[in-house]
Amino acid sequence: MDKLIILGGRPLNGTIRLSGSKNATLPILMASLLTEEPIRLSNVPRLGDVRTALALLATLGVAHRWLGDHELELCAEQIVSHDAPYHLVKTMRASFVVLGPLLARVRKARVATPGGCAIGARPVNLHVAGIRALGARVQLRHGYFEAHADRLTGTRIWLDTPSVGATENILMAAVLARGRTVIENAAREPEVCDLAGMLVAMGAQIRGAGSHVIVIDGVERLHGTQHRIITDRIEAASMMVAAAITGGSLLIRDTPAEHLEAVIAKLREAGVSVAPEDGGMRVAAPRPLQPVELRTLPYPGFPTDLQAQMMALLAKAEGTSVINETVFENRFMHAPELCRMGADIVIKGPTAIVRGVARLSGAPVMATDLRASMGLVLAGLAAEGETHISRVYHLDRGYEALERKLAGAGAEIERVKDGSAE
Ligand code: EPZ
Repeated sequence: MDKLIILGGRPLNGTIRLSGSKNATLPILMASLLTEEPIRLSNVPRLGDVRTALALLATLGVAHRWLGDHELELCAEQIVSHDAPYHLVKTMRASFVVLGPLLARVRKARVATPGGCAIGARPVNLHVAGIRALGARVQLRHGYFEAHADRLTGTRIWLDTPSVGATENILMAAVLARGRTVIENAAREPEVCDLAGMLVAMGAQIRGAGSHVIVIDGVERLHGTQHRIITDRIEAASMMVAAAITGGSLLIRDTPAEHLEAVIAKLREAGVSVAPEDGGMRVAAPRPLQPVELRTLPYPGFPTDLQAQMMALLAKAEGTSVINETVFENRFMHAPELCRMGADIVIKGPTAIVRGVARLSGAPVMATDLRASMGLVLAGLAAEGETHISRVYHLDRGYEALERKLAGAGAEIERVKDGSAE
């Protein structure tokens, strides 16, 4: 298994080019199930999770070919299976969103239940309730949801919480349903809007994506299209933190600033300078970092997917910060690892109290999920000495060419084979 070795203390300077959004790409790949015509995507990131999604789609009958580094063509001319097996759903929970499009296209689906996950229980009750409300019969048998429907029928669906995945699943089920579906308390994330934009380009009738109420008028069929995936806002903000935590200055090209308002506001509050330049954002931390209070929330609030990175940054602020994690109940697994690097963090339930320290020191650390790993990479970039980060496969799932991008800005980072037992 690979690990990353980072020699910290080098300010990052230069230009960063961002990749396409992982969390927009995954449901958009699954949307290829909805038509027998080809779909052409550009700005597709080359990531572990994209490979897993393509492997799952291949088992269902979706052929794909890369037309360039980031251009992909998919074609679901014939669906040969409606079965999403456990080993793929367990590897990547986003696989669960094949439920909606499979039901819409072939009127049956058998999808493994994902089970718990390192960051929380992550139930799928809202996905299933939404699909049932559209008229599907859904039974849980032997760890699989088995769903059948003659043709789904539009209805009003209220989500108890604005779940991203449930909104996407229901949206993809509703586009081919009979009549009108209204999703209330829908997720407003830019990735949901990107999916809706692609579905509209395929002939779907959708209004209100990006607001709390999405209205879908079902159509008889969808057709092929071309679509460019939005830029990854989480990667963009992770790179902003990289500039700030190392005391460097990065020009982050094509930053989707409109998707990062809450994050940019918090970074500025912490004393980070974020200014538009050359169609991107120039990010630097000229003064000592200031402590802040923040709460993770559904979009447009501060994203839970940036909480670990922000915790690493605040570990070096002059004063005490308070972080409240309200989205996932177990998303502080990086805190004890940061403490091993000299951070002073106390966890009380959903709250982390981060007392800033003058310096972090490199250490061997291990992460449990993608964003936690990124938090540790960022701490390693700022720490004195060497940080060894194991379980790099988490990073490979969601950050494209991470070492190359960071090394291009002056980081000392290398990937080596890890001989040690974990
Ligand atoms: C998406 O996960 C993202 N994944 C996650 O990114 C992200 O952290 C999360 O949204 C929140 O922004 C993808 O887009 C592929 P949710 P998702 O359903 O859709 C509860 C990353 O690192 N809930 O919006 O699974 C749930 O427990 C990943 O890139 C239910 O109660 O998240 C959580 O508390 C990790 N019942 C809240 O809703 C349900 O049926 C939000 O989860 C579904 C969700």
